[in-house]
Amino acid sequence: MDQLVIRGGRPLAGTVTASGAKNAALPLMASCLLTSEPLRLENVPRLMDVRTMARLLRHVGAEVTEEGPASLRLQAEAPGCPEAPYDLVKTMRASVLVLGPLVARLGRARVSLPGGCAIGPRPINLHLMGLERLGARIRLSHGYVEAETDGLTGARIAFDLQTVTGTENLMMAAALARGTTTLEHAACEPEVADLASLLNAMGAKIEGAGSATITIHGVPALRGATHRTIPDRIETGTLAVAAAITGGTVTIEECRPVHLEAVLVKLEESGAALTTGPGTLTVRGASRSRAVNVRTQPFPGFATDMQAQMMALMAVASGRSVITEAVFENRFMHVNELLRMGADITTAGNTAVVQGVPGLLGAPVMATDLRASASLVLAALAARGTTTVSRIYHLDRGYEALEEKLRLLGADIERVKA
Ligand code: EPZ
Repeated sequence: MDQLVIRGGRPLAGTVTASGAKNAALPLMASCLLTSEPLRLENVPRLMDVRTMARLLRHVGAEVTEEGPASLRLQAEAPGCPEAPYDLVKTMRASVLVLGPLVARLGRARVSLPGGCAIGPRPINLHLMGLERLGARIRLSHGYVEAETDGLTGARIAFDLQTVTGTENLMMAAALARGTTTLEHAACEPEVADLASLLNAMGAKIEGAGSATITIHGVPALRGATHRTIPDRIETGTLAVAAAITGGTVTIEECRPVHLEAVLVKLEESGAALTTGPGTLTVRGASRSRAVNVRTQPFPGFATDMQAQMMALMAVASGRSVITEAVFENRFMHVNELLRMGADITTAGNTAVVQGVPGLLGAPVMATDLRASASLVLAALAARGTTTVSRIYHLDRGYEALEEKLRLLGADIERVKA
């Protein structure tokens, strides 16, 4: 397994381009199952989860071909095998995003239950509740969800909590249902709105995406379309923290600062100077950040996917910060590894108290999940000495060539093939 070797202590400087959003690309790709016509997606990031989704779609019977460095052509002319097998779903929970489109297009689907992952049990009960409301019959057998219907009918679906892929799955299913569906207390993430804009380009009639109430007027069929994926707000936030934690100055181009407002507010509160332009964000890190408190929330609140990265910054900030993970049950896997680098963090339930220390020390550390690995890379950039991050396949799931982007900014970082 590859490792990253990082020698810390260098302020980053320069300009880097944000890639397309992983969490937009995955539902956008799944929506190819809703039509027999070709879909063209641009600005698709080249990373592991996108390759896994492509494998899954091919398994189901869609054609997925690369048309350029960041462009995909997808066509599900006649999907034959409406099944998402365990060996694919267990590596990527977002595989569940084929469930709604398959039931809507073919009237049946067999999708492996995702199982837990490093950050918590992550059930899909709300996805299934919504499909049942639309008229699908759901059966659980041998670790698989089996869904079937003679045709979906629009319904009112109210979520008790906001689920991003649950909202996306049901928006896709409802697009081909007979009649109107309303999703109440839907997720408001930009990736949901991006999916709705593709579906509407395909002929769907969706209003309110990006707000907590989404209305979908079902249509008999959808056509092909071309769509450019929005920039990755979590990669943008991660690069912004890299500037802050090294006390450097970094400009990120082709990004959407408005998609990570709550994170930028916290970065400014901690002492970074930010300037935004149309599609650009410049971050000037303070010589030493100030401690700030963070509580993760669904969008537009502070993104849970940025919690681990912010904790790395707080580990070397002056003062004490309280970080509360209010979205996932167990998203502190990075804490133990940060402690090994000399951080002073105590956790109780879903709250971590971080006492900033003057500096961290490089050490061998292990990645446990996607954003935890980003947190360790950030800590290593600021640490004195050398850090080796192992199991970086976690990082490769969600970041496109992060070490190359950081090296472009002056970081002393290299990938060592195991
Ligand atoms: C999406 O996951 C993202 N993944 C996650 O990003 C992100 O952390 C998460 O939303 C929250 O923002 C993709 O978009 C592919 P949820 P998702 O359903 O949809 C509970 C990353 O690092 N829940 O919004 O799976 C669930 O347990 C990844 O890029 C139910 O109880 O998350 C969690 O506590 C990690 N029942 C909360 O809701 C359900 O049916 C939010 O989960 C569904 C969810």
